[in-house]
Amino acid sequence: MEAQKEIHLERNFPPVPPDFGHSLRSSLQRIADAPGLDELMRFHRYGESDGDRIAGAKWLASRFGNEDLNRRIVLTNGAKNGVLLVLSMLAGPGDIVATEEQSALGAWAIAKQLGIGLVGVPIDDEGIVPDAFEQICRARSPKALFTVPTLHNPTTHILGLPRRRRIAEIARDHGVAIVEDDICGMLMPDAPPPFAAVSPQSSWFVTGVGKSLSPGFRFGYVVAPSPQDASDFIARFRSTTTWVPSPLSASIVASWINDGTAFRMLSAIRDEVEARQAIVAEMLPGADLVSKPWALNGWLRLPSDRAASDLMQAARARSVLLGPTSVFSTRPGQPANSVRLCIGGPVSRDELRMALDVVAGLI
Ligand SMILES: Cc1ncc(COP(=O)(O)O)c(C=O)c1O
Repeated sequence: MEAQKEIHLERNFPPVPPDFGHSLRSSLQRIADAPGLDELMRFHRYGESDGDRIAGAKWLASRFGNEDLNRRIVLTNGAKNGVLLVLSMLAGPGDIVATEEQSALGAWAIAKQLGIGLVGVPIDDEGIVPDAFEQICRARSPKALFTVPTLHNPTTHILGLPRRRRIAEIARDHGVAIVEDDICGMLMPDAPPPFAAVSPQSSWFVTGVGKSLSPGFRFGYVVAPSPQDASDFIARFRSTTTWVPSPLSASIVASWINDGTAFRMLSAIRDEVEARQAIVAEMLPGADLVSKPWALNGWLRLPSDRAASDLMQAARARSVLLGPTSVFSTRPGQPANSVRLCIGGPVSRDELRMALDVVAGLI
């Protein structure tokens, strides 16, 4: 008997726009046919080119307004790479970093690797609670706050501008750097401005194109507090790690930004995400589900008599894969009794419906 095809609700990828493959093939063909191919592949992209930085500033203009980002931008191998590098620059063994008490990106794993102590800041439906953050600043003197304030993964919360201002103020008063992961910021039209625009002096902005274009590029940007910080960053990592991105990815992303393809892809992803979120709302009526129309996932809170681990197992038995929630807790061994439903994992809306039908039958 043929095994049932597994449906992935655990993979937090964007849906693939219909003309993605065609656009990528055309770009690869154009690069392959152009006279500069050998040159492109002959060099690392150390220090970037002006063109890379100008394209990055154009991509991020909707997040930063008219701010001059050019000399503050550094290219990276994606957001995870950026977070790891920035945190390793700001904190070392024995230091403390604060983060949302439900936190994505394997914050625990990154902290452990760097010998950093991680302290969870209480969150509510909007995100970090400023008073709780202030208390932690007083009691634990963290070196940095690592946060995902826009479409937080996994809870999808969006920190409003007044709170961003208040948190930035607290961070400034206590000498705490802010490291902000804006990986989903581009998915939300009119998202609140990043900390790096609200309080540029003490904020590092990290993003990647993995949720807004495609994870396969392994490409992203860091916006440093100042041009000097950007060059210190480059000098520090230049010869020690794979900080520098693949020239092929950097070149395609820059050309897509400059010729408008990137913005078309983003718009198609946004439309599909909105359509899929409507399907989630329709298929799970009455569920205790937190989500947003622009989020790549929903966060399904379960009643106390339905353990997340049991639900995961039961769903797996029906070929629907859900990720373990333990990866989101800053307190090991104390995962939330919730599951993350990633809507971009299924290859189609029909596949998403099939998976949600299974989940609906199990909760
Ligand atoms: C909050 C957050 N940041 C970053 C990433 C990954 O970014 P990248 O693929 O650019 O490394 C993810 C998801 O995979 C994520 O959820």
